[in-house]
Order: sequence, then C-alpha cells, then structure tokens
Amino acid sequence: RAHEVYQTLSYVFLIFPQFSFGNGLMELARVDMQAQILSAYGVDSYTNPFSMDVLGWMLVALFLQGSVVFSLRLLLNKFLLRKIRNLICSKKVVPETDSWDEDEDVMMEHHRVANGGASGDLLQVNQLRKVYQHMRKKIQAVRRLSVGIPAGECFGLLGVNGAGKTTTFKMLTGDISPTDGTAQIRSSDGTMVDIIDCRSMGINIGYCPQVDALDELLTAEEHLYFYARIQGISRRDIDQEVNYLLRKLELDFHRKKICEGYSCGTRRKLSAAMALIGRPQILLMDEPSSGMDPRSKRHLWSIISEEVKEKCAVVLTSHSMEECEALCTRLAIMVKGQFRCLGTLQHIKNRFGSGFTVKMYLAVTSGDVDSITNFMQFHFPGTHLKEQHLSMVEYHVPMAPGGVAGIFQQLESHKAALHIKHFSVTQTTLDEVSA
Ligand SMILES: Nc1ncnc2c1ncn2[C@@H]1O[C@H](COP(=O)(O)OP(=O)(O)OP(=O)(O)O)[C@@H](O)[C@H]1O
Ligand SMILES: [Mg+2]
Repeated sequence: RAHEVYQTLSYVFLIFPQFSFGNGLMELARVDMQAQILSAYGVDSYTNPFSMDVLGWMLVALFLQGSVVFSLRLLLNKFLLRKIRNLICSKKVVPETDSWDEDEDVMMEHHRVANGGASGDLLQVNQLRKVYQHMRKKIQAVRRLSVGIPAGECFGLLGVNGAGKTTTFKMLTGDISPTDGTAQIRSSDGTMVDIIDCRSMGINIGYCPQVDALDELLTAEEHLYFYARIQGISRRDIDQEVNYLLRKLELDFHRKKICEGYSCGTRRKLSAAMALIGRPQILLMDEPSSGMDPRSKRHLWSIISEEVKEKCAVVLTSHSMEECEALCTRLAIMVKGQFRCLGTLQHIKNRFGSGFTVKMYLAVTSGDVDSITNFMQFHFPGTHLKEQHLSMVEYHVPMAPGGVAGIFQQLESHKAALHIKHFSVTQTTLDEVSA
C-alpha cells in the first residue's frame, strides 16, 4: 500500500524540478546499492538506471520543464515583458508632486516637441518621466523632460549630483523603462521608432555609461572585438574597426593588457571607444571624460566634435563646464529631475549669467577687504563679495557701464591705494550660472 502511494506521489511530484533532481540522485544510489548487495548472493539484479522505471520519467520531466521555461524566458524578454509593462504603466499613473513653473525656454521646447516642430530631429524625447519606488517612498528622478535633438548637435546635460542625468540616459538606452512619456528616433525612411526598437531598424546608438561596464579579465582588443560582434559588424571589417578605434583613442599600448590593471582614465577611454563602435547615429555619453588627464580630455573632445561634424546626434552629461563650453551647441541645466533652463550657451549666459567676476590678489594677507568692498559697491552698484580666501577676494559685479574695460580702468587707477597686487576681470562663466 505504502509503495503504491510512493509511486503515485513520485509521478505527481515530477512537476517540481527539485524533486526530479533529488529523487533521481537517490534512485541512482538505491539501484547501485541493491545491485551490489544482491550480487554478493549471486543474484544479478542490474537494471539500466536510464530505463523508464528508474530515471526515465524524471529526465523527460526535466527536459520538458527546461524547454518550456527557457522559451518563456525568451518570450518574456522580447515581447511579453514589454507588453505587460506598458499595460501596467498605462493603468497606473503616478501623480506628480511639487512641480514648479517651467522656464519659458523649457516650455517652448516642450511645445515644439508636442506640436511636431521637432519632427525632423533625430532624437525626440517627449514628456519623459521616471519615478523610482524605494520601499514605500516614491522618488521622482526625472519629471517630464521634452527635447528634440537634430543630427549634428551636441546636447549637454548639466546638473548637480542626483539631478537625474544618468536616469535619463538609462531610459534612452532601455536599461530602465520610463514611468511615462516616450523617447523616439527618426529612422532613415522618416518614420518614428521607439528607441528600444531601433536596433532592429538598423539604427546604431553608442552609449558610454557613467560606471564602466568592463570585464576585468578581457583586454582592450577583446572588449572591442566582443562588442563589435554584438553590434553585428561583419568579420571582414572587424579587424579594421578595432584597429581604428584603438589608434583613435590612443589605446594601442593597452591592446593586449587585461582591464584589471587599467587606470581610471584608461577605462574611460576604452568605454568611449566601445561607444564609438560602428559609427553610431546617436551617441550618449555619461560623464565621458571624468578621471582623464587634461590632454586625453582634449583629445576625446576633438573625437566627439568630429562625430558631431559627421551628423551624429550627441547627448553628453558633464560636471565640467569647460567641457560643455567646448562641445555643446545647446545645453540644459537639470535640477531635481527637471530642466531649469535650456538653450545655446550664449543664450543661457545672456539670460542668467549677466555680469562679471572680479578676482583680486591682495598685497597683504587678509588686507582691508571692507574698503575694497565699499570702493567696488560705490563704483559698481549691486556688487557683492562672493568668496575670500587668505589674500584672494572674489566679487560678482552685476552691471558695469563700461564693461570689462570700465572695471579694469577703475581698478588699475586705484590698485596701489587699495593694496591690490593683481586682479582679473572675466565675464560670468557657465560654472557660476549652474551654481
Ligand atoms: N535604482 C534607484 N532606485 C531608487 N532611486 C534611485 C535609483 N537610481 C537613482 N535614484 C535616485 O534618482 C535620482 C537621480 O539619480 P541619477 O543617478 O540619475 O543622478 P545624476 O544626475 O546622474 O547624478 P550624478 O551627477 O551623481 O551622476 C537620485 O535622487 C537618486 O537617488
Ligand atoms: Mg550620473
């Protein structure tokens, strides 16, 4: 009776792969022990362990389960998951909290994208939004970003840590799905394709992530080969492409060395090289030059500029204003997941960065700063002291009738009386605007 129950349950439990595996091992041991003990008494009780009575059904069950689950995994990855995600996302609209008034330029760009004004642009981002669910707290990482980026433009994303730059990039590469909104690419025949589907349309996107995605045990050459194969570059062209990129990014010296020993700057160079595989139409670069020495930085800038000239649409994030000033044709400053201002560099400077910065080095450490401040405020109303370190003082001058020359003239003629060793006058930089 007990044996019958055992037999029935053995068939029922075949639906659990763990049972098939564990019970299979026990059956193997049992059959072997049985044959050994009985052979000592001269009885030949050997049975084939792979017969249907012993392991047969367990193997069949494991094979079927493996095939079904693997197919389901592929399906989920490719179609089902996205459909389910879209269904859930369209039903569950997460309400926006504490949004503020949009800046007029940001609003104009928003309308331009919404009304089809950006239909000729290569990359179109429309009301992109991301809310992270952390425990029971909702974090609004990106709030309704809209921007159209044409071919041949380098668009810069500036912002303090945690502003939402990397989250925006991750949505553009399909790493994470947006809570709301779309990111689309214009294909060669003029149709708009969701950015996730663009690979199947033959559109190549290069991505240099903020955290290098490198394998410690592969060499620079192997990385490039590996990613070039994934990109679908033919075997015939692959050598030429890898050699070209190794030379271009000055990585020849590291060609045969494994990544484990690379410096931070070299890792960034390799990540940038990987982003450039296959001449992408869209290039997304998340702080590409962080950790690079000044010469390498400038070299990378020239490479990015070349890509822009060849009609690639580049989106770049950076904390280096110098980098944005050197590369970006248009830029946006992001604060708490939203664009606070958007436009060309000169436009942003004109709107937000009016005025001058005056830096002075005093002849005596901590000299009479008060009298210098009074002098500056008398001649240039609205001037305020921004910083003071030992013998250096820095002022912001919002308005000077004679421009740089006017400030220069006043200071030059009173330099000795105010005990100023030397000074510099500059127009407000982007650094000061974003701060
Ligand atoms: N996986 C996550 N889960 C929950 N919150 C996240 C997650 N990733 C990012 N965030 C939050 O989203 C916000 C934006 O982060 P993000 O990494 O996009 O900023 P960033 O602008 O790239 O900053 P940085 O300049 O430091 O690279 C931050 O408040 C961060 O804490
Ligand atoms: Mg980031």
